[in-house]
Amino acid sequence: MTTHDEHDHPLRWGVLGATSYIATHLMPVVASTPGCALTAVASRPERHAAAAELGRTYGATAHADYQALVEDPAVDAVYIPLPNTDHVDWTLRALAAGKHVLVEKPMAMDEEGCARIEKAAEAASRTVMEAFMYRFHPQQRRAAEILRSGEIGELRLVRASFAFRIESGSGNIRLDPALGGGATWDVGCYAVDVPLLFFGEAPHQVSARFSSRPGLTVDTSAVATMDFGQGRSAVVDYSIDYGPRAAYELQGTHGTLTVRNAWAMEGEDGVITVLSGDGVREETVPSANHYQRQVAAFAQAVRDGSPAPMSLAESRRTARVSSAFVASAAAGGAAVVTSGEVTETR
Ligand SMILES: NC(=O)c1ccc[n+]([C@@H]2O[C@H](COP(=O)([O-])OP(=O)(O)OC[C@H]3O[C@@H](n4cnc5c(N)ncnc54)[C@H](OP(=O)(O)O)[C@@H]3O)[C@@H](O)[C@H]2O)c1
Repeated sequence: MTTHDEHDHPLRWGVLGATSYIATHLMPVVASTPGCALTAVASRPERHAAAAELGRTYGATAHADYQALVEDPAVDAVYIPLPNTDHVDWTLRALAAGKHVLVEKPMAMDEEGCARIEKAAEAASRTVMEAFMYRFHPQQRRAAEILRSGEIGELRLVRASFAFRIESGSGNIRLDPALGGGATWDVGCYAVDVPLLFFGEAPHQVSARFSSRPGLTVDTSAVATMDFGQGRSAVVDYSIDYGPRAAYELQGTHGTLTVRNAWAMEGEDGVITVLSGDGVREETVPSANHYQRQVAAFAQAVRDGSPAPMSLAESRRTARVSSAFVASAAAGGAAVVTSGEVTETR
C-alpha cells in the first residue's frame, strides 16, 4: 500500500454528485478536518449549476462530469455518494485513475461487486472503505467495550431496528428500483451491519420478509432473523415507511445493553442503558460528529498506508448477508449463507 505524504499537502478530496446531503454533511466536514482539503466537486453535465455553487462556497473546482473529477490530478481521494447502482462502477473508475475511495453504503449490491473492488484496490495499492459513519461514533466503541467487559455476559441476541420515512412521490432515489432503491439497500444496511459487527461474523442462515407500500415497487419495510449458530441470533427490522428509529440491543447471558440512537448527531449525546442483575444504569457518551471521525480515520489510513478501519472483507460480508435477505424474501423461506455466496433457499 503506498502512503500519502501529509507533509506534501493535505489529502485532497473530490466529491461525485452535488447532493443536498453532501452540501450539508460531508463538505463542511472535509473542509474542516485537519489534514484534509476539499478541492473538487462534480455533477452530471445538466446539473453543473449545482456543482458550481458548491464549488464557489468551498473554493473547489466544479467539474461538469464525473470522469473529469476522477482524473483531476489535484484530487487524491474520491467520495462517492451516488445512487446505489453506481457505487461499484465509479469506485472502479476512481481506482483505475489512482485515487483512494470512500464510497457510501452499500459498497455494492452483491458480494461480487465488493470482490471486484477488493481486487482493483489491491492492484492499485489504494485505500477503499465503505462509509458506515455510525461505526465512528464513540457510543458504538463504548458498547463494544461494555460487551468485552463481561457485564452483560456472553452475547446471545442482537436486536436492531432502523427506520426513517420517505414520502411517496418525493422523487427520492430510494424509491426507484432502477437506481438500487428500497429499504434493504438503504436503511437495511445498518440493521444488517450491527449484528455482524458485534458477533464479528456472518450468520449461517437468514429469514426475511419484505413488504412494499401500495403503489411502490421497491421493498419499503422488512423484518428478519439471523442464525449465528450456538444459540446466537439476531432479530432486525428496518423501514422507509415508519418514523425515525436507529436503536439496537445486545442481550447477553447476564444482561442487556441498549443504544437508543445509533445515529446521534453532533450536539446530541449518546445514551447507553445497561440492565443486569445489579439493576439499571445509564451512561452518557458525549456528542461527536461521526462523519468527521470517519473522514479523519480514512485520511489517517491513507497517510499511514494502514488498513482502513472498516475492511473490504467486512463489506463483502455485509453485501452477502443483505443479498441473502433478498433471496429469502423472494423465496418465502430461509436462505443459507455460506462463506462464499448464498447457495440455496428452502
Ligand atoms: N451515511 C449517511 O448518513 C447518508 C445520508 C444520506 C445519503 N447517504 C448515501 O448517499 C448516497 C446518495 O444519497 P442522497 O440522499 O445524497 O441522494 P440524492 O440527494 O438523490 O443525491 C444523489 C446524487 O447522485 C447523482 N446522480 C447520478 N445519477 C443520478 C440519477 N440517475 N438520479 C438521481 N441522482 C443521480 C446526483 O448528483 P448530480 O445531479 O450532482 O450529478 C445526485 O445529487 C446513497 O448511497 C445513500 O445511501 C448516506
